[in-house]
Amino acid sequence: MSKKLIAGNWKMNGGKVANEALLNALLAEVGQPACSIAVCVPAPYLAQAQSICAASAIDLGAQDVSPHEVGAFTGEQSAAMLKEFGVRYVIVGHSERRQYHGETDALVAAKAQRALACGITPIVCVGESLAEREAGKTEEVVKRQLAAVIHSNGHCISEIVVAYEPVWAIGTGKTASPEQAQQVHAVLRAQLKAASEKAGRIKILYGGSMNAANAKELLSQPDIDGGLIGGASLKATDFLSIIASAV
Ligand code: 13P
Repeated sequence: MSKKLIAGNWKMNGGKVANEALLNALLAEVGQPACSIAVCVPAPYLAQAQSICAASAIDLGAQDVSPHEVGAFTGEQSAAMLKEFGVRYVIVGHSERRQYHGETDALVAAKAQRALACGITPIVCVGESLAEREAGKTEEVVKRQLAAVIHSNGHCISEIVVAYEPVWAIGTGKTASPEQAQQVHAVLRAQLKAASEKAGRIKILYGGSMNAANAKELLSQPDIDGGLIGGASLKATDFLSIIASAV
């Protein structure tokens, strides 16, 4: 089995001084980790994070990318621009973007496609709301969200990372139980395998209130290949502890 991936999603947090302190604290302690590590920083800080993390065990990620290649799209960043800052991963389809920016499955698929075209790994987020879970629609929702990306990316699908992030677990302190998460991960794995014979290599991360206390158990599930961490990625000791659990 390939290495697990622990990715921090800083969301709209940080600042020059805080970022430097956080990244230096991570670099001072991270050593030679058993897992791959990434930090997905706000776009204005990509250059700063790139220079601090250069030639280290920490890879750089962005939080969004334009579905367009170039042109009159005010406020957007293209995949090629991200690539210039050494970005290796980009989050697409985070529930906060689906919810607050009206991102559709088709738009998320187009963003994943642009990232792949520039050699950036999209971290494709899927996840159900509480109402959808309670209505017994979890599988239907995550499969629909992933199907859109599979449909438009064909054989390139083996190059993506998937993150299962139940919306009700994000920033709420409510984590999916390891069994609940594993159940959905197994569904996603089967869907990926049916789409590509190389799907075995696709990492499926869990995200949603993962922290130093619950990471080990979640990460020991057979189909959980890593974590996408929000709040706990902003504190060096917590993030390092999650990294240490990812063996
Ligand atoms: P929290 O870890 O803060 O719940 O956020 C999860 C998340 O949305 C990561 O993308």
